Amino acid sequence: MPNEQPILRAAVAGFGMAASCHAGAYRRIPGVQLVAAYSDYPERDRAAILAACGPDVRIFDDYDRFIGESGADIISVCTLPDRHAAQIVAAARAGKHVAAEKPICVCAEELEAVNSAVREAGVQFTACFQEFHYGAFLAGIDMVAQGLIGRVHLAEVDYYNGIGPWVQQYWWSRTRQHGVSSLVNCGCHAMMLLTLLMGGEMPEEVMSYRARSASAQFATYEFDPTQMSMFRWAGGRIGKVSSSLDAIQPYMFRVSAVGSEGSIVDDQFTTTRFAGLERARWSRMGARTIGDALVIGPDMYIDFLTSFTASIRSGVAMPRTSMDMAYRMHRMLFAADASAESGKPVAIAPIGA
Ligand SMILES: NC(=O)c1ccc[n+]([C@@H]2O[C@H](COP(=O)([O-])OP(=O)(O)OC[C@H]3O[C@@H](n4cnc5c(N)ncnc54)[C@H](O)[C@@H]3O)[C@@H](O)[C@H]2O)c1
Repeated sequence: MPNEQPILRAAVAGFGMAASCHAGAYRRIPGVQLVAAYSDYPERDRAAILAACGPDVRIFDDYDRFIGESGADIISVCTLPDRHAAQIVAAARAGKHVAAEKPICVCAEELEAVNSAVREAGVQFTACFQEFHYGAFLAGIDMVAQGLIGRVHLAEVDYYNGIGPWVQQYWWSRTRQHGVSSLVNCGCHAMMLLTLLMGGEMPEEVMSYRARSASAQFATYEFDPTQMSMFRWAGGRIGKVSSSLDAIQPYMFRVSAVGSEGSIVDDQFTTTRFAGLERARWSRMGARTIGDALVIGPDMYIDFLTSFTASIRSGVAMPRTSMDMAYRMHRMLFAADASAESGKPVAIAPIGA
């Protein structure tokens, strides 16, 4: 007799581009049933909801009823960033597992509330950094975790994007209320990769600077869209994150990590751990890179959400994008923003201090 797993019911709150990706992915994952959608503006979003979810989905415009009546086991929180914290807390308190789009919250106080609610509820949680669950980023993170380049003492991650008036998300990305800062808005992708390359170890200090393009196309940004943050860890390790939302160039997400036994640059690596490799040559990972996908679509979420359903079924925390790792990254991020605001270095307290 086959050992059938019980169906996991998923529901998605959004309802924009990210929500459509979650819904499209859930519909293609065996053992998952998409049961409900929530939107702040259900009439306006109805066509997008039906296209992504199919005709049988229940549509809610009241978040509490969506949580209470949808019958979902998993809630995907894909609303605008300033809604995330309250929606995650409500879902966790109702015993739902939560897949929350990045950023999971927009300030340090919200981060503590989210972290406490998820831990106290004992539910599984993932921050939605789907790009660390497949391809070259995953390979690089795993190489570091397995010691292939030894102890990393320098990591640099650069996120360059052009979120101007020609991009659908521009209307909210540019605002202090919804977009908040370069790091909160999109630079958190790069910050998460730095956190993972450093094994989740908390740095001791950050110094962060901000800048903005002289182009009139980005003039209505309510915060400086470019930011560079340098971190220092105990024991002689350093890292840097650049985040630019006002870059006039193709989207680029670049990484390098330098360790005691080799280096990684994007999808290339060197290591002394294998015999026969030559120091003057790069070896190439046979892996998809972030640049291989020109548009974000449900395909990019399938490995990630499949992994999350496995985490829910096994009760083992999600690899790489768990609450614990997301908490560490957001702590670093808010410290960097505090540094940029004050123009001074900011000390980062150890976890639990
Ligand atoms: N993981 C990723 O790669 C990735 C990619 C894109 C977006 N995201 C995240 O997903 C979340 C949602 O982003 P998105 O790109 O789906 O947004 P979007 O612009 O596609 O969707 C916006 C949605 O917000 C709602 N909304 C709320 N207030 C509104 C208002 N005043 N006017 C119009 N619409 C309003 C609407 O329901 C609308 O459908 C964000 O947190 C974003 O950072 C993540």
